[in-house]
Amino acid sequence: MQRFDEKIAEVKRLYEQTGHLHHLVRLRNLRVKFGQQLSRRAEANGKLEGKPDIKPAKNPFPDVENDIPEVPYQDMTADMLSGAIQHQGALIVRDFFPPEAIKALRDGIDATFDESANYFSGDSKKLEDRDANSPWFRLDLPVKDVYDKGSVVFMMMTGSVWTFLSPVVCHRLLGAFEQAGLRSTLDQYFEGRTCLSFNKSVLRRMEPLKEPSEWHQDGAFMSGGIKSVNLWIALSDCGAGTDCPGMDFVPKRLDKIMPTGGEHGVFKWSVSPHSIDKWFKDTPPVTPTYKAGDAIFFDHYNLHATSYSPDYTKQRYALETWFFAEEFAAHNQSPTYW
Ligand SMILES: [Fe+2]
Repeated sequence: MQRFDEKIAEVKRLYEQTGHLHHLVRLRNLRVKFGQQLSRRAEANGKLEGKPDIKPAKNPFPDVENDIPEVPYQDMTADMLSGAIQHQGALIVRDFFPPEAIKALRDGIDATFDESANYFSGDSKKLEDRDANSPWFRLDLPVKDVYDKGSVVFMMMTGSVWTFLSPVVCHRLLGAFEQAGLRSTLDQYFEGRTCLSFNKSVLRRMEPLKEPSEWHQDGAFMSGGIKSVNLWIALSDCGAGTDCPGMDFVPKRLDKIMPTGGEHGVFKWSVSPHSIDKWFKDTPPVTPTYKAGDAIFFDHYNLHATSYSPDYTKQRYALETWFFAEEFAAHNQSPTYW
């Protein structure tokens, strides 16, 4: 959308010229507003009923079976990403972010968590410091019903904040994606323009779990007829063999949402460990190891869980960002303009 791009470029320019952080709040607000406009337009045009055409891709890693392939990020192509997702269900990329980006994002996550804790603190001293206009944590949006305000405090307790609630970190992250050349790769992957999801983009600074988490496919929460990809980026060294939790994955392509709830899982969206053992005897879950700056791509059919083990004792920083083809976005996840 040329009109939207021009508006966004204009506000970015103002920020670059002045360095005033409030321009980043405006930039965030525009992305949310434009995303909602496109979403409503798609709904009015009956686009939500459409089913995406996924072009079959050849297997770029024929030697990788019952495991997740990996590649240095600089060697990744859109075809390789499609092939790995269609055959192994995920792709690990090494050195996705350089050390400067890792530091800027970790510092930004700390500033966001501090600001959000101050904002919600019942401590009268901290309430005096509370800044409702902070560009590090800003709840007010130009449109309603983009997110559930009640979930913000609950998410904070589990070490998560929606990326778009921090206009500064959101800007840093999208800037780092541009630097990495991610947009053009994803536009090729989707065969159309890429958008972001407000609801599925999260900054994480989490403590190790006290008990195992729930196995799930993110597609179980999303509206149908979508083309998606998630990029999960480790900002701490984590995973198998470290003292910091990563994620467990079923290393297999699934092309449907598996049975959930009841005998299959605790929640209506989760899959029980018993079902995992029963269904995937030949492809048991794997727990990759990441250096800070490594990342993994997967889509809404991938079955995964946050790792749990008493060996994990350290806090973990990470970023989760879901992307959709603008034409085939999950409209219940607040598509947001990139
Ligand atoms: Fe997930």
